[in-house]
Amino acid sequence: MSQDDLKDILQDSRESNISKDVTGMLLYIEGRFFQVLEGEKEAIDELYEHISRDERHRDVNIITRGYTKRRIFKDWSMRYSSISSKEFTRLSGIKRFSDLLRIKKPQLEQQVVMFMNKFSDKTFPSPSWWS
Ligand SMILES: Cc1cc2nc3c(=O)[nH]c(=O)nc-3n(C[C@H](O)[C@H](O)[C@H](O)COP(=O)(O)O)c2cc1C
Repeated sequence: MSQDDLKDILQDSRESNISKDVTGMLLYIEGRFFQVLEGEKEAIDELYEHISRDERHRDVNIITRGYTKRRIFKDWSMRYSSISSKEFTRLSGIKRFSDLLRIKKPQLEQQVVMFMNKFSDKTFPSPSWWS
């Protein structure tokens, strides 16, 4: 995906997510997106439908979903960051990025939730064009 496509997605998401009280995080690693969507169930179901039909990407999967009173990304309409697979292995403790695709649920759910939580602080800056 080009940087222009990405900018379009994030810019559209900002306005639309604010209007639906949706918050979250989009993380790009080696050609793959990981996204956390937080909000009321109806808003999230509807948004997920839209995103999964978007032709700018493919192979969309839900890793986990659930209910919580606390949002991780409450201050972001859609936080964005991109990391290398090397950084991924350092942060997650998983040896290779490709191993993530082989881990079975529920271990996969736990690993990914723990991993995405690490982006809730400002340790990983968004690019200058997205703040
Ligand atoms: C990886 C990815 C993540 C996206 N995240 C969001 C999002 O958080 N919010 C949003 O409104 N659109 C997001 N989009 C864009 C939607 O797929 C879609 O273009 C948008 O909801 C407008 O849909 P519409 O033209 O059918 O109204 C994302 C797209 C991609 C490819």
